[in-house]
Amino acid sequence: MKTLVVFYSRTGFTKKVCLELAVKLQAEVEEIIDTKSRKGPIGWLNAGRDASRKLSTLIAQTQKDPAQYDLVVLGTPVWAWTLTPAIRAYLEQNRAKIKKAAFFCTMGGSGDAGTFQGMEELLRQKPAAVLALKTKQVAGSQYAAELDKFAEQIAKS
Ligand SMILES: Cc1cc2nc3c(=O)[nH]c(=O)nc-3n(C[C@H](O)[C@H](O)[C@H](O)COP(=O)(O)O)c2cc1C
Repeated sequence: MKTLVVFYSRTGFTKKVCLELAVKLQAEVEEIIDTKSRKGPIGWLNAGRDASRKLSTLIAQTQKDPAQYDLVVLGTPVWAWTLTPAIRAYLEQNRAKIKKAAFFCTMGGSGDAGTFQGMEELLRQKPAAVLALKTKQVAGSQYAAELDKFAEQIAKS
């Protein structure tokens, strides 16, 4: 199955897991770049505000065509109990090209349900599999079994 792993990551936690998942799935990777600065205290405040208002953002031109893949894995950090503006923008631009999807998120503590619901609404389809990991688990590399299960569900879908 031809698979694409698409992710946005501000501080590297989502990126770390998505890159490992891509190796497991022998998938190609697309990192989404938010052109709006999310650095420093102002960037952080704006990030939370934009996410909670369900705003989109301007993302850099992407390289891969999702229509060329059987399944697209979408990875995002949780911001204000929902998805990031960057993944929102990607979904708004590409939803019609995504045949099948799986959702992944990292979070400090909670908000995975709202994040996955938001992604499902934007995509207008249910995911084949979902996985949410906490930042602490990612930092301590304590997610091998969960990631294997997620990869298995994707491969079987
Ligand atoms: C603006 C902002 C809002 C956040 N909101 C939440 C939240 O609602 N729930 C939560 O558990 N973590 C929240 N976090 C923490 C991130 O989801 C967490 O640190 C994540 O692993 C970061 O992923 P990244 O390193 O890929 O950017 C927030 C982080 C930022 C920057």
